[in-house]
Amino acid sequence: MTEKKQPAALTPAPRSRARMLELVFPKDTNYHGTAFGGWVLALMDKAGSVAAVRHARGSVVTARSDAVDFHLPIRVGDAVALDARVIRVGRSSMTVQVDVYREDMASGEQQLATSGLFVYVALDENGRPRPVEPLLVGDDQDAADADSGGRP
Ligand SMILES: CC(C)(COP(=O)(O)OP(=O)(O)OC[C@H]1O[C@@H](n2cnc3c(N)ncnc32)[C@H](O)[C@@H]1OP(=O)(O)O)[C@@H](O)C(=O)NCCC(=O)NCCS
Repeated sequence: MTEKKQPAALTPAPRSRARMLELVFPKDTNYHGTAFGGWVLALMDKAGSVAAVRHARGSVVTARSDAVDFHLPIRVGDAVALDARVIRVGRSSMTVQVDVYREDMASGEQQLATSGLFVYVALDENGRPRPVEPLLVGDDQDAADADSGGRP
């Protein structure tokens, strides 16, 4: 028998990670009919910032986007699956790896289309950089992700 969901139960969000799904509509495309690069960058920044906020447990700003490679075009009608993970933590800065997969929903196949690094800085209530927790690595990180049941 399946377990009944408890609507009021508090469950932890994934720590230091965020996953996101989007659909490509014609308004999101360039003259070639594929996803506009700036639209993809905005999605990456959104997913990256959620991973950083989850790690910092508070507000962050984008300090840098780096090494973004557009490997494959993303087509109208594709789903876009983003996976953002904090991979390095300084005192107040967090480097987030963001991978973007194009998904042919009919076949269910995904391919890495774009990848990049984003740096976020945690801010205190005065808008100044504030220290963040170190990164959990290996099993601890996987266990923290597992706690959330793999939800986005
Ligand atoms: C990011 C920002 C808060 C840094 O402020 P600052 O006074 O330069 O802070 P500091 O020199 O004390 O640096 C704080 C941390 O940010 C990092 N940092 C600052 N600028 C950075 C950059 N361009 N790239 C990568 N890391 C950067 C520093 O290395 C430092 O990291 P650490 O604490 O892990 O050692 C500030 O530059 C800012 O507000 N920028 C605008 C952010 C913004 O508006 N983003 C939206 C873009 S539209």
